[in-house]
Amino acid sequence: MTPESTHRLALYPGSFDPFTYGHLDILERARRVFDHVEVTIAVNSEKRGLFTTEERLDIIRECTEDMSNVSVQEFEGLLVDYARSRGAVALVRGLRQVSDFDYEFRMAFANRRLNPDVETVFLMTSEDHALISATVVREIHHWKGDISSFVPPPVARALEKKRN
Ligand code: PNS
Repeated sequence: MTPESTHRLALYPGSFDPFTYGHLDILERARRVFDHVEVTIAVNSEKRGLFTTEERLDIIRECTEDMSNVSVQEFEGLLVDYARSRGAVALVRGLRQVSDFDYEFRMAFANRRLNPDVETVFLMTSEDHALISATVVREIHHWKGDISSFVPPPVARALEKKRN
């Protein structure tokens, strides 16, 4: 067995619009389990988000700059195809509460059927972040509320800039 073959890469895919403390929490857990974790930003050309893909890349790179085994990339297309091309062994998804299960299970089963070699691994977020979602953050931001307890400082700064 070569050292490379034991190097286990996981993808942490999502929209991350924006990247929250909940995402950061899952990422911290994932990087303790896998050798390397790639935050994989899914590009959805049909949906205009709050941040562009380039902005999300820059912001998440800033949030993770001290994490030696984390990288950030974008991709467009089917996640399982991208995972195969990257040689990833797992897809990490965060679970906050029971209501996440339905969507997550359907996606995990579909992904498994499309590519049985990539395992979906669910990690539970800390209780502190169980109620944070990017949708809630966007809503608070829209109504000019204080989002500083929901998102890491680079995201808060980028949101503040959007406001001006
Ligand atoms: O943060 P999100 O929006 O819940 O993440 C969903 C995401 C981006 C992981 C999912 O929509 C995805 O994988 N999109 C790429 C297309 C694909 O492969 N879909 C899964 C087939 S069911």
